[in-house]
Amino acid sequence: MSLVRVNTAFLHNFMATHEVTALQEQVTSIHQMLHSTDAPDFTGWVDYPNTLNTESLHRIQYVAQEMRNNSDIVVVVGIGGSYLGARAVIDTLKPQLFQKDNNAPEILYAGLNISSTYMVELLNYLEGKRVSIIVISKSGTTTEPALAFRFLKNFMDKSFSPDDVKKRIVAITDEKQGALRKLADKQGYQTFIIPDDIGGRFSAFTPVGLLPMAIAGIDIHKLTQGLTKAHKHLNNHNIEQNEAYHYAVLRLILNRKGRDVENYVSSEPNLYYLTEWCKQLFAESEGKDNKGILPIAMTFSTDLHSLGQYVQDGKNIMFETFINTGKPTADIPVPTLDGDIDGLNYLVGKTVNEVNQTVMHATALAHVEGNVPVISLEMDNLDEESLAYLMYMFMKTTAMAGYLNGVDPFNQPGVEIYKTNVFKLLGKPGY
Ligand code: PA5
Repeated sequence: MSLVRVNTAFLHNFMATHEVTALQEQVTSIHQMLHSTDAPDFTGWVDYPNTLNTESLHRIQYVAQEMRNNSDIVVVVGIGGSYLGARAVIDTLKPQLFQKDNNAPEILYAGLNISSTYMVELLNYLEGKRVSIIVISKSGTTTEPALAFRFLKNFMDKSFSPDDVKKRIVAITDEKQGALRKLADKQGYQTFIIPDDIGGRFSAFTPVGLLPMAIAGIDIHKLTQGLTKAHKHLNNHNIEQNEAYHYAVLRLILNRKGRDVENYVSSEPNLYYLTEWCKQLFAESEGKDNKGILPIAMTFSTDLHSLGQYVQDGKNIMFETFINTGKPTADIPVPTLDGDIDGLNYLVGKTVNEVNQTVMHATALAHVEGNVPVISLEMDNLDEESLAYLMYMFMKTTAMAGYLNGVDPFNQPGVEIYKTNVFKLLGKPGY
């Protein structure tokens, strides 16, 4: 059974069923290509759930447990696909805002900006604490994480003995190539390999994401169960039976009708980084050759009181994808107030989540009335299994969407251009 449903109830004014079925033949041939033995490069993630064995999960869990035992703080160093998958899962399932998990170290991130203020403040904060570092870079040459790691390596070498440093630094990178691989081998750091045929933004469930997730206390076995379910269920060419492809086709039809922006909407603030991950996955995969949908994200109700005005009433360039995660982790009934001075006693008998759900429903109806199509992705609840399912589904949607639109979803030539310019302007030898 699918753990995510695509609800099209709000789309009736915007497309007809025959527009969806007309794309079946194209979807079938792309599906066959993705699953063939002759699949394009960088499709290793498609069958990866099948190859995740107990041995590799055990090693991840073993190293994670060691880091949990000996660290107050773990700094994850990486950018783009090298940190967003982990952050999406950790922030969604282990929010630390009000409730700290006392058995887990604090997880911080570095290498995702080149802010000197951020770096100085981070180094000051780490002072005197038991710190471990996970440095992640597939290419091993990306400027932002490489520079951050140089500072953090200095900090570690000053703060801990050489033997302790080797236990406290883990590098996740290519098996053979890149500066990080060379450095890790030379220094004797523990390493995990990023599979050759899996690109950064599709690597959330390789050690890139699984190690930080396990350190944060996420049950990675349950994640892999969700992945396995998604892999099995979404290995189906039929648009009506495959939610990933159905969603890809709906997006394409809306895009062809002039909807160039997709707004990922959630009413749970914990999902902020999940929607950041979606933005990266879709933008980097689809935005090329002057084509693609621009992904943006909003949290409701917060953004209903700022960007909501534009969505309802601004230019008709957008459609929305609501991520409805079903039963909340916690809920609370609205209390009675004697005298009803605030006028809210009409809500007594409802829970806060019921009010939240009603706001989401009312907003979807309002946006449809304002000529904004709404796709609703619906789950029963949000746990390791269903979150992994949802993320794998998004990856499959991305791959299908890219090929339907005639672009290679697995490269990122635009990103490479800025990287090369940085090397040139900073005077890197050879550029
Ligand atoms: O999805 C991608 O390929 C990118 O976002 C990369 O993950 C990002 O550029 C970081 O690259 P690297 O891991 O080589 O440092």
